[in-house]
Amino acid sequence: MKISIIGSGYVGLTTALALAHTGSSVILLDVSEDRIVSIREGRAPFYEPGVDGLLSDHIRKGSVRATMDYQEAINGSDLTFLAVGTPMDSDGRMDASYIKAAARSTGEAIARKGVPHIVVVKSTVLPGTTEGVILPILKDTGATMASIAMCPEFLREGSAMEDALHPDRVVIGCLDDTTFTTLKELFEPTDSRVLRCDPTTAEMIKYASNSFLATKISFANEISRICEVTGIDVYDVMEGVGMDSRISPQFLRAGAGFGGSCFPKDVSALIRAASDKGMKTPLMDSVMLNNDIQPVHLVDVMEEKLGVISDKRILILGLAFKPDTDDVRETRSLPVAKELSTRGGVVGGHDPQAGPNFATLMSDMRIFKDLDEAVDWAEVIILMTEWPVYRNYPFGEKGHLLFVFDGRRTIDPKRLGKIGYWAMGSPL
Ligand code: UDX
Ligand code: UDX
Repeated sequence: MKISIIGSGYVGLTTALALAHTGSSVILLDVSEDRIVSIREGRAPFYEPGVDGLLSDHIRKGSVRATMDYQEAINGSDLTFLAVGTPMDSDGRMDASYIKAAARSTGEAIARKGVPHIVVVKSTVLPGTTEGVILPILKDTGATMASIAMCPEFLREGSAMEDALHPDRVVIGCLDDTTFTTLKELFEPTDSRVLRCDPTTAEMIKYASNSFLATKISFANEISRICEVTGIDVYDVMEGVGMDSRISPQFLRAGAGFGGSCFPKDVSALIRAASDKGMKTPLMDSVMLNNDIQPVHLVDVMEEKLGVISDKRILILGLAFKPDTDDVRETRSLPVAKELSTRGGVVGGHDPQAGPNFATLMSDMRIFKDLDEAVDWAEVIILMTEWPVYRNYPFGEKGHLLFVFDGRRTIDPKRLGKIGYWAMGSPL
């Protein structure tokens, strides 16, 4: 099929490559010139494993192209995915301004082309947005619409390419049989389970999935704090809990909390949307509250174990919200760095990929490029992102270190010699 994708971020770019991989011809559009230049040169505009190789391959073959021109994207395709960001606004609500702008420009280009076109929403949007906001904008432009659909994405950064090539499931929220068949055939080569529903249900499936996963993490973190004061280890507990196939062991890793571009913003947007309709959301409120507690709790324990934080040189290892990405959106390293600084600590940081992005969030923090130099500078280590390079680092040979705090259960304490060690969720 001939496809265009509006928005070339994690979702748009990896979806484009997965579709090109199974034989479609794809035009990517973005408003960022830097992104388009980078894609045309076959280089991913962000760090995401597996993207560079496939991208350079498909750019060379011509199966993936990139443009900033809506008319070129629409003229060269029969079906358009909308994959621009839907970030959180300052009130914690979903900011629909980008998706509305993308829908208007897409509609205007379809109207000029004058041929029936399918538009599929892939961005995460609140229930009702596809039919209640995006479709009216498209109609208002005079676009000759074949149909509209909503297909949420379930990509995890760090393994987004793998997830796009082999999705767990494909949810097709549509209003007619022809659109369902078209989209089912498009995703057929991925051999995934397909669920058909209406667009509003598809939108809610995405929010409910993310809210449930975030709930599992906050649950594990609350149990973790109880384990700490009870003298047991939450990882041993969750091993037993996760053996129940009704529960599953996934997303029960206690630690510094969840970050990233999805969980915090999606849970928050759903809470706001519910409250705008007069509904209370006590469960999700406490999911967020628990997530805010964890970074402060970590710093509280550090202060207790160290006696005093002020003037200690404390190195945060890992600034990205998870390993294998340079994304720092809602990273838990930020509240930890701020809390440590507020209490007088001298804070430095290191990350294999995310240093420059983190510097835009906290410009006064020293960010090391070299891991050895960073560790030599530090007196205390706090591990926040479980990059493999930290797992294998010979901390035990660095006799000057006083203490290693492990926010992600990454370091083997047996390799630390006389250095103090405490991991979140282990006895205090
Ligand atoms: C995606 C989804 O679209 C979002 O709704 C979901 O909740 C998270 O995943 P993601 O791909 O991670 O977003 O976002 P990002 O990497 O920020 O990419 C969005 C892209 O859209 C950017 O490259 C941005 O430049 C582009 N964009 C934004 C447009 O092309 N047009 C606009 O009007 C706004
Ligand atoms: C998530 C969803 O998994 C994906 O389906 C959705 O489309 C986008 O949001 P992502 O945010 O990329 O993906 O990463 P994920 O692996 O889910 O991790 C999110 C955060 O939760 C990270 O900060 C991670 O450290 C944290 N986490 C995850 C835990 O603290 N414990 C866990 O057990 C799992």
